[in-house]
Amino acid sequence: MAKIYINGGNRLSGELKIHGAKNSALPILAATLLCQGESVIHNCPRLSDVAVSIRILENLGCVCSRNGNTVSVDATNVSGNDIPDNLMREMRSSIVFLGAIIGRTKSAVVSSPGGCELGPRPIDLHISSLRLLGIKISEDHGYLNCEVDSEITGNEINLSFPSVGATENIILAAALSKGTTVIHNAAREPEISDLADFLNSAGAKIYGAGSDTVVIEGVQKLNGTEHTVIPDRIAAATYICGAVATNGDIVLKNIMPSHQVALLNLFRQCGCEITPKNNTLRIKSISRPMRIPTIRTMVYPGFPTDAGPPVMALLSIAKGTTVFVESIFQNRFKYIDELKRLGANIKTQGNVAVIEGVPKLSGAGTECTDLRGGAALVVAGLVAEGTTEIDKIFHIDRGYEDIELNLKNLGADIKRE
Ligand code: EPZ
Repeated sequence: MAKIYINGGNRLSGELKIHGAKNSALPILAATLLCQGESVIHNCPRLSDVAVSIRILENLGCVCSRNGNTVSVDATNVSGNDIPDNLMREMRSSIVFLGAIIGRTKSAVVSSPGGCELGPRPIDLHISSLRLLGIKISEDHGYLNCEVDSEITGNEINLSFPSVGATENIILAAALSKGTTVIHNAAREPEISDLADFLNSAGAKIYGAGSDTVVIEGVQKLNGTEHTVIPDRIAAATYICGAVATNGDIVLKNIMPSHQVALLNLFRQCGCEITPKNNTLRIKSISRPMRIPTIRTMVYPGFPTDAGPPVMALLSIAKGTTVFVESIFQNRFKYIDELKRLGANIKTQGNVAVIEGVPKLSGAGTECTDLRGGAALVVAGLVAEGTTEIDKIFHIDRGYEDIELNLKNLGADIKRE
């Protein structure tokens, strides 16, 4: 199994184009199922999670092709309504296909997504919301059996938590339906808006995406369309952490600063210069980062939970102590033990971590526990003295396109073997 090796200490400098957002590409690929004809998705990142999504679409009868960062999906002849167990297990977020499969075929058979590295990943909000749209869902032997007697019918849905995936599944199931659906307390992440933009360009009538109230007027037909995926704000945050940790000076291209205001303010508090200009961002760091007194992960537009691990790696060498509260997932701290192998001084109690910044980290053997935890090890390895070896990098390849090539182009001493 391949590993990543990093000899830390090189300052990052140069330019990097940020790839399309994984968490936007996945629901948009699911949404192509709803469209008659071919959809063309540009800026679609080359990631293993995207490859699994394409295999799910092909298993349903779609004809898919990829040309660089453009993926074409012809959903004219959708013939299936199930996701094989192995594909469900490979990618927990394949639950977002549920709404699209039901929206297109009026039925679905999928295995209940297991937990994942971040702890249990319940889907109670998905199921209760879809049932409010007239979808019958029975659970037995670990499978969800879904069917619609006549038509999916619009309804008012109040989400007890602004779940990203549940909001997406409701939108996907309600796009082709009778009547109007209103989602209250909807997730406001930019990826929700990107999904709505794709569907509206295919003929849907979705209003208010990006706010906490989303209205979907059901239509009878959607047609294949062309769409460019928004940039990946979490990948951008990860590369920024690498630049700040190494006192670097980089320019990120194809970035939307408006999608990461909370993060950019945090990096300014660390003492670096952030200069946004249209869809580029310059990050310059001239001294050891300052600590951030308290960080609490929140739903958008608060500090995003997915940026927590790389930011924690950065703060492990900051001047001072940070109190970090993870409010979204139950078990997102698994990677911290690996950071401590590199010399980080972090104590955890439940969903609170106290990071006492140390002057330096030292390279060691480590292994990824999950996608963003793996990203944290890369950030730490960039600044650790000596060689850091990172195993189980398949976790990283789920969400970062060409990470070692990108960092090498920015001056890092990094290789994959
Ligand atoms: C999406 O996951 C992202 N994944 C996650 O990114 C991200 O961390 C998360 O949103 C929060 O921003 C994709 O978009 C593919 P949620 P999702 O439903 O939809 C609880 C990454 O690293 N919950 O908003 O699963 C849940 O347990 C991944 O790219 C319920 O209780 O997130 C969690 O504690 C990791 N019942 C919280 O809500 C439900 O029915 C947030 O979950 C659904 C969720």
